[in-house]
Order: sequence, then structure tokens, then C-alpha cells
Amino acid sequence: MQEQLDKLEKQALAELDLVSDPAELQNWKVKHLGRSAEVGKVLEGLRALPAEDRPAIGRRANEVKSRLEQAHARKNDTLRSQELEGSLTEEKLDVTLPGLSPARGRIHPSTQTMRQIIHIWAEMGFQVYRSREVETDEYNFGLLNFPPHHPARDMQDSFYTTDPEVLLRTHTSPGQIRVMRARAPEPIRVVLPGMCYRHEQITARSEIQFNQIEGLAVGYNITMADLKGTLIAFARRFFGQDVRTRFRGSYFPFTEPSAELDIECFVCGGEGCPVCKRTGWLEILGSGMVHPTVLENGGYDPSVYSGFAFGMGPERITMLKHGIEDIRYFWANDLRFLEQF
Ligand code: PHE
Repeated sequence: MQEQLDKLEKQALAELDLVSDPAELQNWKVKHLGRSAEVGKVLEGLRALPAEDRPAIGRRANEVKSRLEQAHARKNDTLRSQELEGSLTEEKLDVTLPGLSPARGRIHPSTQTMRQIIHIWAEMGFQVYRSREVETDEYNFGLLNFPPHHPARDMQDSFYTTDPEVLLRTHTSPGQIRVMRARAPEPIRVVLPGMCYRHEQITARSEIQFNQIEGLAVGYNITMADLKGTLIAFARRFFGQDVRTRFRGSYFPFTEPSAELDIECFVCGGEGCPVCKRTGWLEILGSGMVHPTVLENGGYDPSVYSGFAFGMGPERITMLKHGIEDIRYFWANDLRFLEQF
């Protein structure tokens, strides 16, 4: 019996030496210290032994058991500190490595252009006036001298709400009436930037939403010469001092006379190319002298006051400036596009 216990102890300790991870240690524990372990069996079998042998065998069995327990505890400690050591060396952080820099946002190309444009107008004494994006049919069309059955009033062209009198503004011009009614009879010099909406087929050249920057000057003795001089001054500041410009007669219900401003195509220098559709010129804005009926609707006596107005599209101008061929890029929010600006 004594011999059996000696062998058992030796064997168990030898096996423990080979244990190299916590899972193996657990198996070892089950085998040598668990419920069906050999030492336990010896202790259970004591009763069957002659009485004089019992104390010696019992003592020895308990000794083996507690030695194995101590050996187990020591092994456990060793494994744990090895594990800690390992993670301290392997998972060491090099705090001097460069970090991952967070992606940086930037100003949308339309907003950049709008800010440049507004900055130039501000230097010329024009204040920013924010008008509403949801308008009434009256302000968007009626007070701007659109006749009752003008095609722009068609549901096909404008986004109406369930109320047939309320729509998303199709241009920033209704803001003209709002400023005039707020300021009359004071002279006015304002620009009105903001989003406009049209119920159109979305293509490379037309979107259902786009920005406009409206301008309005109302005062005494404002003439077509002021309109031309002011708009040419703007074009020179925005596109460069040497830019060539031309006015082309046009028509808008709310201005009379009306004109569109073209600048010489900066892609081909006026030779004719696909960007300017071989004309050598690029249209950048619509303008005109405020129609007497519109002045009156705004609360200004047209026999005393006169004024000019203009409207330009910052997306279109951005496209011309950067050679962007498709207007749909502006609101598609593709970072590969936006990150270029
Ligand atoms: N509102 C016109 C448009 O959307 C532009 C315009 C504004 C023309 C002011 C003349 C005067 O096309």
C-alpha cells in the first residue's frame, strides 16, 4: 500500500511537470485530486485494512493528497505569472506610433462658391437677407407678375403641397417682395441666397433642387447702367479682371427690360468648345430692371423709385469653374467627389 502511494505521488508530480497551460492543469486536477482520484480511493479503502495498518497508511495518503494540492497551487501560480508576462511583452503598446487621424469634413463646393459670391456682394454694400423656402403661389408667381396661366405654375413644373396655394419656391425671386414689404420705403441693397425646387426630370444638366443667389437694389434713379456696371464689377471680381462679358436681351415677367449676362468661355477663351456649346460664351445669370408692377406690389411707388434685380445659380457657376460635367454630383454625397474641394 505504501509503495502504491509512493508511486502514485511520483507519477502525479511527473505528469504535473509536463502541464503547460490552464486547460491541462484542470485535467490534471480532475484526475489526481478529483472525486475519483486514486488517493481518494486509498482513503476510502482504509476501512478494509487491518486496524494496526490504518493510521500509517491514512497519514501517508493524506500527506500525498496535500502535497499534490500544494504542487497544484504552485503550478497554478507559475502558469498565471507566465501568462501575465506573455501578455506584457506581446501586447506591448508603442505609444510613439502615429495615430489614425479622423476623417476631416470640409465645406461643400456649393457653399464655398456661395460664400465667395456673397463676400463680393457684401463688399459692394449688399446685405444677406434670408427668405423662406416654402412659399405661397401668390409670392412665388402672382406678385411677380406671372400671368394666371403661366406654364411655370403647372403642377408639372413646381412642387405644390396638398394646399394648392402653397409650394416650394421655384426661384429666390419671391424674396424680392418679402424684402420690399419689410423695408419700404427705405432704399434696398440685398442678396438672397438659398435652395430652390423644381419638379423636373433629373439629368446631368438639371436637378430638382439647386441654390440661387438673388440680388435686389431699390432706390432713386437706379438705371440699367447701374445694373450693367454693378454686374460687370461682380464678374471681374469673381472670374478675374480680364474677363470679357456681354449682355443679351431676355425676358422675365418681373423685370423690364431683362437681360442675361454671359462671360467669355474660360475653357476655350472664346474659340468655341463643348463646354460653351461652341458659342464662346457662358451664361451666368438672369437680370433686369424691377418691373413697375413688382415695385408697386412691394410697396414702392414706381414713379419715384426704380431698381434692378438679378439671379444666379452657384452650382452652375461651380460647374463652370471646376469643369464638373454632371450637376447630380452636388447632392449625391459621394465623398470621392466632395473631397476634391
Ligand atoms: N428668377 C429667375 C430665374 O429663376 C432669375 C432672375 C432673377 C431674373 C432676378 C431676373 C431677375 O431664372
